[in-house]
Amino acid sequence: MYLKTTHKFLILCATAIITFTAAIFTDYNSFAQSTSGQAAAIERGQKQFEANCGFCHGNDATGARGPDLIRSKLVADDVGGNLIGAVIRNGRPQKGMPAFTMTQEQIDDIAAFLHARIHGAMRSGRVSDTYPLSRLLTGDAPQGKAYFNGAGGCSACHSTTGDLAHIASKYAPIDLEARMLYPRGAATSTVTVVLPSGEKVEGKLVHLDEFSVALQDASGWYRSFSRNQVKVQVHDPLAAHRALLSKLSQADVHNLFAYLETLK
Ligand code: HEC
Ligand code: HEC
Repeated sequence: MYLKTTHKFLILCATAIITFTAAIFTDYNSFAQSTSGQAAAIERGQKQFEANCGFCHGNDATGARGPDLIRSKLVADDVGGNLIGAVIRNGRPQKGMPAFTMTQEQIDDIAAFLHARIHGAMRSGRVSDTYPLSRLLTGDAPQGKAYFNGAGGCSACHSTTGDLAHIASKYAPIDLEARMLYPRGAATSTVTVVLPSGEKVEGKLVHLDEFSVALQDASGWYRSFSRNQVKVQVHDPLAAHRALLSKLSQADVHNLFAYLETLK
């Protein structure tokens, strides 16, 4: 019925607030259902991917004659298929990627699979062992450095002698790139749910989709609400970091990575 809280969380930086409206309905089962639903989607997506895409992108999505999708910025920026869907439907015919006729569900599943692959690559280190550094190091470190301290705005929050000192010795290259694109760690999103009565419930964000929102409150209780009668405000400490990264070009990402990789 509830999950126990064992850790506190820090809110590090900027706060992004997304507000939505919608009827209260407490459903303690939705968490378990959505977690197993997610696993099923990833499994279906993997089959679809291997059947339709693996030939060009590699069954593990690290690239073959088509590009590596694990470190694709487009895939990193994708939220629930919003960018991947367009590539699948339209293809890039001049560049060798055909268009596919797929249902929204198939696209959602493939997107779920690709996002899971990226998270898996970050956690397991399985990819790091075999992932050639040469495939990652295509950028220019001096340009990356200039960008880091200048137009990129990274130095507003980070320092290469402070929090990012020796970062390249801390992580395998693929993990470092993944961390730059998908930071995690201390930065956990929190959420405020406003009930129709005006009462506010706050806690660590556990789940959020179109239909439901779930949180873990300060005493460790798991609570879930239907989205259609409550207001939801998500406070994402990494919002500013993500907003910035989504503006970078693929070349900027490669240059920045080449620079970070010099911070041994
Ligand atoms: C016949 C080979 C081929 C097949 C099959 C194929 N792709 Fe691609 N795909 C490519 C090529 C080549 C590109 C690079 C196009 C470019 O340079 O803009 C690409 C690009 C992409 C991109 C954009 C990556 C980026 O960073 O811009 C995504 C996402 C993608 N493919 C997903 C898929 C998915 C999902 C499938 C299966 C439904 C698939 N592809 C099937 C060849 C293929
Ligand atoms: C508004 C503040 C902000 C800006 C600007 C910003 N970041 Fe971040 N970044 C963060 C936060 C917060 C984290 C999460 C730290 C944590 O989880 O401990 C983070 C994490 C990271 C990490 C992972 C560190 C680790 O130890 O896992 C890297 C690498 C990184 N950022 C690189 C960059 C680069 C490159 C830029 C410029 C394009 C940038 N950041 C811009 C706030 C920012």
